[in-house]
Amino acid sequence: MSKDLHSDIDLRPADHVAIIMDGNGRWATNRGWPRLVGHRRGAERVREIVRASPDLGIRWLTLYAFSTENWKRSTEEVLGLMAIFARYIEREADRLAAEGVRMRFIGERGRLDPKLQRMMAGIEARTAGFDRLNLTVAINYGGRDEILRATRRIAEEVAQGHLDPADLTVAAFADRLDTGGLPDPDLVIRTSGETRTSNFLPWQAAYAEYEFTETLWPDFTADELGAIIARYSNRERRFGGVAR
Ligand code: IPE
Ligand code: IPE
Ligand code: MG
Repeated sequence: MSKDLHSDIDLRPADHVAIIMDGNGRWATNRGWPRLVGHRRGAERVREIVRASPDLGIRWLTLYAFSTENWKRSTEEVLGLMAIFARYIEREADRLAAEGVRMRFIGERGRLDPKLQRMMAGIEARTAGFDRLNLTVAINYGGRDEILRATRRIAEEVAQGHLDPADLTVAAFADRLDTGGLPDPDLVIRTSGETRTSNFLPWQAAYAEYEFTETLWPDFTADELGAIIARYSNRERRFGGVAR
């Protein structure tokens, strides 16, 4: 792990950091600008955070970009966000590949524009061989929706005689979630001062540590991420056991 950038930090690495990137709208509104300007600035922060993550000891980075509830927003904002996702994939593909980043998506894709779906599948396939950083972006993701879809799949497997209900363990259930094969997050960060989880990874984050910061996402920097990880590294995770 490179120590030159954040040499003051003695890391107990947060292998998997998940971020609820919140506050883009307020960042723009505070300046009298349209909300989409905040989303565009937010996408630039994603670039910086992705680039800085490996040096901070992060191997898995999961970002909440669009929830199953975000369709309630205006058509203009929803379409603008979808355009930002497409542009990010288009513009970043070469750099992600050059930096050894594997990109995946979680969430229900069927409701997304077919062209965006193809781009998502394309970059997943293109970067499938990398693992310096595993970047997962949640688009049209909702934890309840994910659990429901997994349960439906399991019910079908049972109905078809492919699965014995007695074999349905915690691990077998987790395998059928969108995050199947990904480790659980160690640390969940939410920006913008809101202290709720908004349907993000309810199953996977059952034992995660949470950090909340007042910083709006467009102002969030790699330095602040480093400081949060340093704080995390001093926490004691007990997983139901007793203090060491
Ligand atoms: C987070 O910023 C990005 C998405 C939810 C897509 P918001 O758009 O929720 O920003 P605020 O919370 O309104 O400031
Ligand atoms: C959560 O933020 C979703 C994402 C960051 C993509 P929201 O802004 O949608 O959540 P609420 O409405 O404040 O709970
Ligand atoms: Mg918000």
